[in-house]
Amino acid sequence: MKQFDARTIWLAYTSLFLFPICTNAFLTSPNSPRYLSFLHNIPEEVEELEYKYDDSEAESQFGTKEYWDDMYIGLGDFDSEEYSWYFGFDTIKKYFMEYMPIPDKKSDEKMKMLIPGVGNDSTLLDLYKFGYRDIVAFDYSKNAIERQQDLISYDSSAREDIELLVRDARELDDEWTDSFDIIFEKGGLDAIYLSGPGNVELAVEELKRVIKHGGYFMSVSGVVPAELRREIFSTDEWEWIRDGTDDLKAGCFVWKKV
Ligand SMILES: C[S@@+](CC[C@H](N)C(=O)[O-])C[C@H]1O[C@@H](n2cnc3c(N)ncnc32)[C@H](O)[C@@H]1O
Repeated sequence: MKQFDARTIWLAYTSLFLFPICTNAFLTSPNSPRYLSFLHNIPEEVEELEYKYDDSEAESQFGTKEYWDDMYIGLGDFDSEEYSWYFGFDTIKKYFMEYMPIPDKKSDEKMKMLIPGVGNDSTLLDLYKFGYRDIVAFDYSKNAIERQQDLISYDSSAREDIELLVRDARELDDEWTDSFDIIFEKGGLDAIYLSGPGNVELAVEELKRVIKHGGYFMSVSGVVPAELRREIFSTDEWEWIRDGTDDLKAGCFVWKKV
């Protein structure tokens, strides 16, 4: 009778305390199988945006929202889980070190960074780990933002600090005027350029509005024509810190807003 009591108590103890603790530790560990990733973080509902533009004048599929929406649910030519256009952070890091304001981990003053057209690029999380702590990243494809939610879901502090939004670069929030210290974009302006005449000009006007005077803008781009880039980043308004026109793959451009 005594032995039975002890076993009952042990069973009750393991099922009530130990089993749930161990199971939770396994399921939420970064090493748990990828198909269980939904358990790491219950994703927040991503708000869709009404699409106001017409992509009929797009120069290629990369200039249409339909293409990107499909791509991020696995119907495109690239990996829908995670894909980094042109380069990953391993290549870009040296440009950050040389040309951009570097986060000071000891200072309480955080630099506010905006990442337009973020896609499913893990560079977002790399920048966070590098020390940029106040990041807003957006894409006009809700599916891209849902992929990003998955990518950052393993890092609980990143989940809290990074704001992921569905936005169109051609129409940004009114209250963002003069609020970002840094803009980093890779391939976003290229896709917008390919969406038809006038669009990349609209997007750069908006990005110019939201970046602070003295703010830094890094663009990794291989499609926007050099003459157009010179026009939209005119030297009256932008100091050219690095001109990537002669870079081999895509150019890395850095401007400072005058
Ligand atoms: C070439 S991909 C680059 C993705 C990511 N930045 C990278 O480096 O891997 C272009 C991204 O821009 C987004 N995009 C295209 N036009 C946009 C717009 N008008 N506003 C916001 N995002 C846009 C697409 O959905 C896509 O995710």
